[in-house]
Amino acid sequence: MFDRKIKIAPSILSADFANFGQECEAIEAQGCDWVHVDVMDGHFVPNITFGPAMCAAIRPHIKGVMDVHLMIAPVDPYIEAFAAAGADVISAHLEAGPHIHRSLQAIRGAGAKAGLAINPGTGIEDVDYLLDMVDLICVMTVNPGFGGQKFIHSQIDKVRKLRAMIGDRPIHIEIDGGVTPETAPLVVAAGADVLVAGSAVFKGGSVANPAPYGANIRAIRAAAKAAL
Ligand code: DX5
Ligand code: ZN
Repeated sequence: MFDRKIKIAPSILSADFANFGQECEAIEAQGCDWVHVDVMDGHFVPNITFGPAMCAAIRPHIKGVMDVHLMIAPVDPYIEAFAAAGADVISAHLEAGPHIHRSLQAIRGAGAKAGLAINPGTGIEDVDYLLDMVDLICVMTVNPGFGGQKFIHSQIDKVRKLRAMIGDRPIHIEIDGGVTPETAPLVVAAGADVLVAGSAVFKGGSVANPAPYGANIRAIRAAAKAAL
């Protein structure tokens, strides 16, 4: 059932790469809603992370939503593999190629929810004809490729405009990059409901000491809710 309740989605890009399974269990136990998985190919973005095999390996460690963010180009050859790995949401970038409409069709065709990710420099004019193809729109508030970057404030206006475009369609607005207790209220006030946070959730904690994860998640959620 679709709802716009605030959802916190820690990005495991900031987790301990040697312990992804336990890290996923730890953030869920500490109260996160979704688990955000950043797939990078060293081509669409200047960094390389992991692929479908890693997603399949962590799937048994995630009870909730596995939210896979594909920063790869091309996208289409890999959609089936990520769906088979157990991704609940698969987001492709509007900038990843000329056939985003086909990619979104293929994501839903593979049984996953379709997400559309948009870089900071990209306008929302092209989203109009894709609104019936998507379940989520991910507004990048950093230039994709790395965690721990500074939030780009110019994107708040983009969120506001997107929220108006969406109307009462069941489409989540996800914010990705530089989300903290300071920036979360700004995007929630503009209409966002899914908050990806990497460095702000994983800072100060570990699999052996996960309590700081919970405190960080609660701090972001409280600040976000205060903006509603
Ligand atoms: C960046 C990724 C983000 C990143 C967020 O390309 O898509 O998900 O991990 O990390 P923070 O919250 O540290 O900016
Ligand atoms: Zn991401």
